[in-house]
Amino acid sequence: MREQLEEIRKMAEKELSAADSASAVESIRLKYLGKKGELTAVLRGMGALPPEERPVIGQIANETRQDITEKIDTVFLKIEQRERNAGFLAEAVDVTMPGKRLNIGHTHPLSIVMNEMKDIFTGLGYEIAEGPEIEYVYYNFDALNISKDHPSRDYQDTFYINDRVLLRTQTSPVQIRVMEEREPPIKIICPGRVYRADEVDATHSPVFHQVEGLFVDKGITMGDLAGTLRLFAAGIFGGQTKIRLRPHNFPFTEPSAEVDVSCWTCGGKGCRVCKGEGWIEILGAGMVHPKVLAVCGIDPEIYSGFAFGIGVERTAMCKFNIDDMRLLYENDIRFLRQF
Ligand code: DAH
Repeated sequence: MREQLEEIRKMAEKELSAADSASAVESIRLKYLGKKGELTAVLRGMGALPPEERPVIGQIANETRQDITEKIDTVFLKIEQRERNAGFLAEAVDVTMPGKRLNIGHTHPLSIVMNEMKDIFTGLGYEIAEGPEIEYVYYNFDALNISKDHPSRDYQDTFYINDRVLLRTQTSPVQIRVMEEREPPIKIICPGRVYRADEVDATHSPVFHQVEGLFVDKGITMGDLAGTLRLFAAGIFGGQTKIRLRPHNFPFTEPSAEVDVSCWTCGGKGCRVCKGEGWIEILGAGMVHPKVLAVCGIDPEIYSGFAFGIGVERTAMCKFNIDDMRLLYENDIRFLRQF
């Protein structure tokens, strides 16, 4: 029986040395030490031994069991460690690998121009005012003295939400909102988004931006308006840019003017961008109509004022030599990188 036990120990140790996974170790444990295992079988046969040999063989059997158990534990630990190390290796970060380049963006050309406009006008003492993009028909048209049959009210030109509410077609309604609330002197600009039912082309988009301006006080004249616009054009385009005031008609100003800058693409000869004109209209302006002042509770006998509305897209296109407005919205990085 001794030899049998010795044989079991050797076999178990040999098998354990070859074991290379936790499950292999477990099946070896079952094979030798389990209820139906080989060692257990030997121990069961002990009853057949002469009584004086039983304790001796019993001790050897216990030692064998202990030896095998210890060996199993050692091998198991080793395997566990090896598997853990393999896991660490698999998860390891290679700190020598080149990093991913972070693409750092910058201000969009429209925002660049918008910010410059804000700088110019706040520098001239204007405050920045805000108004809603979803606006009442009253503020967008009625209070601005725009007649009921004016073409701009047409469904083909304006996005209506219902009979009383629309997407503002201009930033001019903010003039009314501010004048209703405040006493002159009022000196504000309102930069913002406006909406018109226009087809997209090189110079039109159904969503675009304007900067509205309003200055109401005692004794404000058209000369103040012209001087202000000249400062604006010089600030944005540089001193060499020509501006032109053309007599025009806006219901909310009297007199009114459309203001052009010389075309940047053709230098004034006439091309696709300026539709052959040589000039690009970038803003409308005029002296606030007495009816508009009165509707807001401001006495036109005491106060006068000028107002203007600048197209931000057109100004940006002019400033950066962009010949197609769509480029400003497509967010093609190759385009945006240039500014
Ligand atoms: N609201 C006009 C438009 O969208 C622009 C404009 C013209 C604004 C004259 C004004 C102004 O404040 O006085 O075409």
